[in-house]
Amino acid sequence: DWTMGAYRDAKIAEIREQVGDGKVICGLSGGVDSSVAAILIHEAIGDQLTCVFVDHGLLRLNEREQVETLFRDHYNIPLVVVDAEERFMNGLEGVTDPEKKRKFIGAEFIAVFEEEAKKLGGADFLAQGTLYPDVIESVSFTGGPSVTIKSHHNVGGLPERMNMKLVEPLRELFKDEVRDLGRELGLNDQFVGRHPFPGPGLAIRIPGEVTKKRCDILRKADAIYLDEIRKAGLYDAIWQAFAVLLPVRTVGVMGDYRTYDSVCGLRAVTSVDGMTADVYPFESQFLQDVATRIVNEVQGVNRVVYDYTSKPPGTIEWE
Ligand code: XMP
Repeated sequence: DWTMGAYRDAKIAEIREQVGDGKVICGLSGGVDSSVAAILIHEAIGDQLTCVFVDHGLLRLNEREQVETLFRDHYNIPLVVVDAEERFMNGLEGVTDPEKKRKFIGAEFIAVFEEEAKKLGGADFLAQGTLYPDVIESVSFTGGPSVTIKSHHNVGGLPERMNMKLVEPLRELFKDEVRDLGRELGLNDQFVGRHPFPGPGLAIRIPGEVTKKRCDILRKADAIYLDEIRKAGLYDAIWQAFAVLLPVRTVGVMGDYRTYDSVCGLRAVTSVDGMTADVYPFESQFLQDVATRIVNEVQGVNRVVYDYTSKPPGTIEWE
């Protein structure tokens, strides 16, 4: 695509101009946006870039290993992986308000990046894969009153005083354009087609208090759901699909026993840019099969529900 090719070249020139001979660290989330930002910046400034991947314990199953393989082994981009599960879990203890979760996670991310930058002998810039919809939704809601819907961690959660300046080469782009740019940079279709995943991770898919135990339960349910979606050949027809773990327990029966366990919600939507979304209309047998697998295989879940809300009035994530 010649348009994206020209865009890439223009951005590379812009990044070189902004950064000069400064050092940049880039926060990777494992998603498409930050990966594309990192690869673009690496093309522009090479080893002046170091990527930092924070394992906050709020990742999906096997996500950390996938990021390590892609960046270290495939692209040869300098990568630091920070084991930060404990400090994130400690900080989230007792926090149930969605905006407080987001604010804490955003601030903690920055704290980790600043520590890592110091270990690398200082960095002048922090790079992020912020997209245009992240910018708008953190400021106002299109067509509506000017209120914050959600503070996206990579926009609203930043502290006022930060040592590093921001590099955000994707700020003008929508998701489909980032995917085109990713292909332009040589990422394969499978990676580029990955569903979006929010920076605050599983924390905003666990309404109520987030604990390691609940993250572990959710990781298992989510992996089963995505596995069934892939097996049914539906992955690419869906913008985003994920499980949430509700802070509600209900009564069930397994064999001869009464159970009293959590409810798991399933979400799947179609969308072009994440700003509006429609429910994905699964066949009812598909949902029944997923529900059966989750209840049978995931200890701690005994009931599964499907979310039929479009955006608006719902949002895609539950928090
Ligand atoms: P909502 O829930 O606001 O989400 O309808 C719209 C899209 O944005 C993603 N999302 C985030 N992405 N940091 C991100 O990088 C965030 O804090 C964040 N919150 C929501 C969400 O997954 C969906 O694709």
